[in-house]
Amino acid sequence: MSTSAAPPSRINGRIIGISIGAALGGFLFGFDTSVINGAVDSIGEEFALGSALQGFAVSSALLGCAVGAWFAGPIANRRGRIPVMVIAALMFLVSSIGSGLAFGVWDLILWRVIGGLGVGAASVIAPAYIAEVSPAHVRGRLGSLQQLAIVLGIFAALLSDALLAGAAGGADQVLWFGQEAWRWMFIAEAIPAIIYGAFALRLPESPRYLVARGEYDKASAVLHDFTGIVEVNLKIEEIKKSLHREDQESLRDLRGPSFGLKPIVWVGILLSVFQQFVGINVIFYYSTTLWQSVGFDESNSLLISVITSITNIVVTIVAILLVDRVGRRIMLLWGSIGMAVSLGVMALAFSFATVVPTDDGGTTAQLAAPWSGIALVAANVFVIAFGATWGPLVWVLLGEIFPNRIRAGALAVAAAAQWLANFVVSTTFPALAGVGLTLAYGLYAAMALLSYFFVLAKVPETKGRELEDMDDLKVERHHRSRS
Ligand code: GLC
Repeated sequence: MSTSAAPPSRINGRIIGISIGAALGGFLFGFDTSVINGAVDSIGEEFALGSALQGFAVSSALLGCAVGAWFAGPIANRRGRIPVMVIAALMFLVSSIGSGLAFGVWDLILWRVIGGLGVGAASVIAPAYIAEVSPAHVRGRLGSLQQLAIVLGIFAALLSDALLAGAAGGADQVLWFGQEAWRWMFIAEAIPAIIYGAFALRLPESPRYLVARGEYDKASAVLHDFTGIVEVNLKIEEIKKSLHREDQESLRDLRGPSFGLKPIVWVGILLSVFQQFVGINVIFYYSTTLWQSVGFDESNSLLISVITSITNIVVTIVAILLVDRVGRRIMLLWGSIGMAVSLGVMALAFSFATVVPTDDGGTTAQLAAPWSGIALVAANVFVIAFGATWGPLVWVLLGEIFPNRIRAGALAVAAAAQWLANFVVSTTFPALAGVGLTLAYGLYAAMALLSYFFVLAKVPETKGRELEDMDDLKVERHHRSRS
């Protein structure tokens, strides 16, 4: 039982402010991973790339993300949460200018990988920080801000790409100072990068990190000011206790009996992997192809992508309103069902596709009515089912399921796994789609179905619990299965 159930904690403007500040990293995460969409064709032309190298120019950043996520944990433990945010902001800045001024494809890839390191780091630090400063009863809501920021970032990147291309009369046309529009698409990211860095420098360090460093006075001040907890000393004692339950070095702490890792670390890794293996980013990264195959031309396809990203924003807001009332498990379970059904319908629809040649010598799947309409609706239902559940909730859960002592390290491992899974899905999709879209969507549907049973069997409910109680998650599960 938590001893801190007693102190009343309120949600105040400051805590929302710092959560938004931290979640700005999510905005850059969304922006950076999507900005390439509008630029990729022009990059291919400018540097005369074959499809493989062009694909790698897109996906290489995801490898950077995995590495960035991996290192963010140890740095966050040693130097604090804020320095990680500042380093990430600097990387975004360097990457945006470097990519915009790239001489050739290889230095472009280098700049994109540097941005990826920032994305990876930001993807770890925001959920950890937000969970560590939030009062328990609104932690889910505030943690979902990360996903809201991600989807707003995706939307902003698509919009800024479209506006810049529109202003120049095409992504490959010169816009300002003799530079083509696609270059300005990258440079535009410098603006949110600077805002993120400036915000991060004003944020207080996480109280859990401060306690781990023995800086109790500072920790008390932050706890009191930001979470409104009155009995600060009690809370500090609790944090200390939960930190001392295991007193070793961070990454070593993750070790355990289940295939070398603690069971809860596996839960985090699998949440991440399932979130990607349902194929969400195939919709976001290859949307134009999808919409074309259900009958839209290229410019309308861009519009549909923008609409899809707005849908994603709206359902994320719904998730934010629901998460601390309904609970994580039930929402994930419904999300799995919604995704399995909608992906299954897409797989079925594409079994009626005809393969037609494209202008550039390749082929594409084409659907006729009624299957084109059915596939369009199913794809949007999929985005809704994901966006209202697995999209935000995995980030929320990764922020909160791990005990204090291992949070930063475990989150880093889980997020690195997520980026690798994202890389695997995004790079294998073109080949899978070549064999048949029914196969691709069928596989994602199967993953969604599996994710249902995984949540049912392994994911603990964390709604309303104090982070200091997370050490006991396993025990709780035991009780439940015995009763
Ligand atoms: C989640 C995923 C991310 C995806 C986004 C789409 O944040 O982690 O990979 O792009 O949702 O909404």
